[in-house]
Amino acid sequence: MADAGPASFSTRANALLRKNLSYQTRNIWSNIRLIMIPFYLCVLLVGIQALFDSQITNSADNQCGCQCTLTNENGKCVNRTCGIEYSSTDQAFFCSIPSPPQWPPLLQVPPPQSRAVRASFLPEIGLPGESCRRTGSCPVTFLFTGSNHSLGASLYGNMLPSSVTVNSSDLLQGLAYNVLGTETEAELTNYLDPGIASDLPIYNIQSRCISNAAFPFSFGVGPLKFQKDLRCVQGLNLWRNNSKEVNDVIFKGYKKGNPEGKANEIAAAYDLLNTNRNNFNVHIWYNSTYEENSRNRPSTLVRVARSVNLVSNAYLQFLQGSGTKMLFEYVKEMPKQETSLRLDIASLIGPLFFTWVILLLFPVILSSLVYEKQERLRIIMKMHGLGDGPYWMISYAYFLTISTLYFICLMIFGSAIGLKFFRLNDYSLQFVFYFLYVNLQIALCFLVSSIFSKVKTSTVVAYIYVFGSGLLGTFLFQFLIQDSSFPRGWIIFMELYPGFSLYRGLYEFAQFAFQGNLRGADGMKWKDFSDSAMDEVFYIIIVEWFLALIAAYYIDKIVSSGKDPMFFLKKPFKKSPSMRKPSLQRQGSKVFVEMEKPDVAQEIEKVEKLMLEASTSHAIVCDNLKKVYPGRDGNPPKMAVRGLSLAVPSGECFGMLGPNGAGKTSFINMMTGLLKPTSGTGLVQGLDICNDMDRVYTSMGVCPQHDLLWETLTGREHLLFYGRLKNLKGSVLTQAVEESLRSVNLFHGGVGDKPAGKYSGGMKRRLSVAISLIGNPKVVYMDEPSTGLDPASRKNLWTVIKRAKQNTAIILTTHSMEEAEFLCDRLGIFVDGSLQCIGNPKELKGRYGGSYVFTMTTSSEHEGNVEKLIQDVSPNAKKIYHIAGTQKFELPKEDVRISEVFQAVEKAKSTFTVFAWGLADTTLEDVFIKVARTGQAFNVFS
Ligand SMILES: *[C@@H]1O[C@H](CO)[C@@H](O)[C@H](O)[C@H]1NC(C)=O
Ligand SMILES: *[C@@H]1O[C@H](CO)[C@@H](O)[C@H](O)[C@H]1NC(C)=O
Ligand SMILES: *[C@@H]1O[C@H](CO)[C@@H](O)[C@H](O)[C@H]1NC(C)=O
Ligand SMILES: *[C@@H]1O[C@H](CO)[C@@H](O)[C@H](O)[C@H]1NC(C)=O
Repeated sequence: MADAGPASFSTRANALLRKNLSYQTRNIWSNIRLIMIPFYLCVLLVGIQALFDSQITNSADNQCGCQCTLTNENGKCVNRTCGIEYSSTDQAFFCSIPSPPQWPPLLQVPPPQSRAVRASFLPEIGLPGESCRRTGSCPVTFLFTGSNHSLGASLYGNMLPSSVTVNSSDLLQGLAYNVLGTETEAELTNYLDPGIASDLPIYNIQSRCISNAAFPFSFGVGPLKFQKDLRCVQGLNLWRNNSKEVNDVIFKGYKKGNPEGKANEIAAAYDLLNTNRNNFNVHIWYNSTYEENSRNRPSTLVRVARSVNLVSNAYLQFLQGSGTKMLFEYVKEMPKQETSLRLDIASLIGPLFFTWVILLLFPVILSSLVYEKQERLRIIMKMHGLGDGPYWMISYAYFLTISTLYFICLMIFGSAIGLKFFRLNDYSLQFVFYFLYVNLQIALCFLVSSIFSKVKTSTVVAYIYVFGSGLLGTFLFQFLIQDSSFPRGWIIFMELYPGFSLYRGLYEFAQFAFQGNLRGADGMKWKDFSDSAMDEVFYIIIVEWFLALIAAYYIDKIVSSGKDPMFFLKKPFKKSPSMRKPSLQRQGSKVFVEMEKPDVAQEIEKVEKLMLEASTSHAIVCDNLKKVYPGRDGNPPKMAVRGLSLAVPSGECFGMLGPNGAGKTSFINMMTGLLKPTSGTGLVQGLDICNDMDRVYTSMGVCPQHDLLWETLTGREHLLFYGRLKNLKGSVLTQAVEESLRSVNLFHGGVGDKPAGKYSGGMKRRLSVAISLIGNPKVVYMDEPSTGLDPASRKNLWTVIKRAKQNTAIILTTHSMEEAEFLCDRLGIFVDGSLQCIGNPKELKGRYGGSYVFTMTTSSEHEGNVEKLIQDVSPNAKKIYHIAGTQKFELPKEDVRISEVFQAVEKAKSTFTVFAWGLADTTLEDVFIKVARTGQAFNVFS
């Protein structure tokens, strides 16, 4: 197969994308379920809205009242008439009012208990004593000030009539001679002053009250008739020297503001300023807060018109004499059409629902990221040539696509079903908002995924985040937004929490949709962008997105490379560990090694020559590789690999034996680019592992110790994915995959098309080996490839490896001597960070195995006899094993002749019972044990 060269960025991206796609098709049902969630919620909302409409919006109470005006002989209604006259007060709200009623203008007057009386905290002068409160006869106070007291006095003398005037033939005109007031709160006007409709009396404010009796009169506004009492109340006009004093009285009279907590309210106050005969200037104080919670209600009645008219009329009389009058007969509103109740429920509960919908992607993305980390798939993909760049970009783009599709589905469902929440607001604005937010969400997932190593924990935490954010948003955050006294700065601070910024955005959409629906207008448009809190939400999301990306990248760099958290502060070009000049230290070690281990020294020499030639005849060349882990928590630095030199030509399988913890994995990790060597370097196909790792990966295969597979992908899909990473394309790729499946015996019975999660341990192992060999890599690392396999599969696997060996350099670690002997052309025994010996299995056995192993089993009382027997045969024998009557001895070959041993045993058999005995030549295992033991002992003392 031609060497296609390293896979380009787009090829790798394509491989990952296709893998993700087949992964998703496998998970199609969970995807459909995911997409259906917004759909269900939208349908639910529509259902709630329909229920609400049928029960509330369309109920008789929420429509203009109607009555049957004509029935036929069967008692059936033939003619229904609707209108305000047939309506209850609730229904009247909705009626069409083509000619609005007129009503006399009323002054806002404090209720009797709150009217100003003398009090310790008020500058007295003219106010009545507190006793009037008991009889309810406190006067209503008006304050005056101005530059000319005498002018002011004549004005306020003209203000209030001294008696009641009623003209029954023209009621409104007659009433206009009086000054009427009410203590009712000014609500929504509802086309009539609530003071007239309420049960409270209407006050007639006069300069003095002769009798306290009420004056009853009946009164009609349009079709409505009212029977009211006119009750006289005294109006008290007081002069203050300047406006500051007026202000002072009003200020102190405010109920919550004065020390005794008593209300001492006045009805109105006038500052006549520089008014004279030619000029009329006036400032009026009036209280428009006579309605709790009147915030955000623009059409609340303000009873100020009459007080303006009063003072104007007084001025006119001052100029023209008391015969001239300027009457203010009535107030009426503009006509209106019939309205209906339009409450958009989706907008009211939408923020909660849609917060959930959007946040729901968080656990999905997070668990997918954590899964690849938990199963260490990320690492194995990296080893097969998928760099960080393509991984992040493709994963990001991929999640972004899924998220975008998801919220577009949400918008489409919502609009199709008729939710005002989606229909009324500008679509482009909604799109941008969701798009920005899902970007932030993905970046957050990347960031947060570095904290978790278990899918389960991450999923649980993510769901708590999803539901918690929605509920907190609705039951805490929303109240704070609506509470205008809560500082805005804190709101913005809370919006830094991503769940709340999402909630806020949705809340604003909902508000605009709700208001728009109520008024029959549109929702939020781009021009409302800065009026709503949308702009701050957008800025917060963008900035957080950016920060989360940087933080995620930074943490990933630290975690994946084991770098110092401050790596970016260091100089980028510190002295490279790959410098090839032989150092003094190395010379020293060479001399030292030469004396002890000639085979290792020879290898070093070979490597040195190869390094100078820079030839690529050897696929793998390691030149004095070292790895030192820095000391932590007071422990000394750990030398994992102490200068390893090794050259493996193409076509050779090099077996690396060694006890656990000898540094084999550190070595493999350095060669596969997971760890940077502390010093020294390695060349793979002439490429430096320190600088050219990305190109090295394209010709490298790895079979890790633990199978790293996607449970839901099939064997074939695995091979396709890794084949693409190795830049195989088209028919070459399919052919390679086919061959590969066949060679590891996963082809028959369609095994290759079953998900890897269903494979047995052996099948997984074989798939891992197949993965490491796909695309004819020049270099393959196999970490214990046959662990956990039954003998048949193992044999099978060995044949595969043996076949693959032909034009590949393989480095293999194993604990099975049988495997090492069968597969490897050369062996190296690696102990405590350095090679102890190197050579082909036969050589090693010859070199280290200069002895026989004698084993004998007797009953335990005869152990002494056995020892004596061996002493006789060979005085230099060493006992290497002893347990319950079974003993093993090592007999140097030069001491012993086999026939002597047989004779000795025959003799012994006659004196005591021998259960079993044996004499064996050294096995590789014995060599291994011996080398490992001496190596460890040696290193402990060096
Ligand atoms: C105050 O007003 C009266 C008219 O009521 C006028 O005669 C008098 O000159 C004014 N005083 C001043 C200081 O302007
Ligand atoms: C009552 O109103 C009628 C009609 O405007 C008017 O003619 C009559 O003079 C009024 N009566 C009084 C006492 O003002
Ligand atoms: C108002 O001014 C007059 C004279 O300038 C003074 O006698 C009177 O005490 C003042 N009233 C108040 C309440 O300060
Ligand atoms: C205005 O009216 C409110 C509502 O009744 C009352 O609490 C408040 O004291 C009044 N303010 C003044 C300055 O009288």
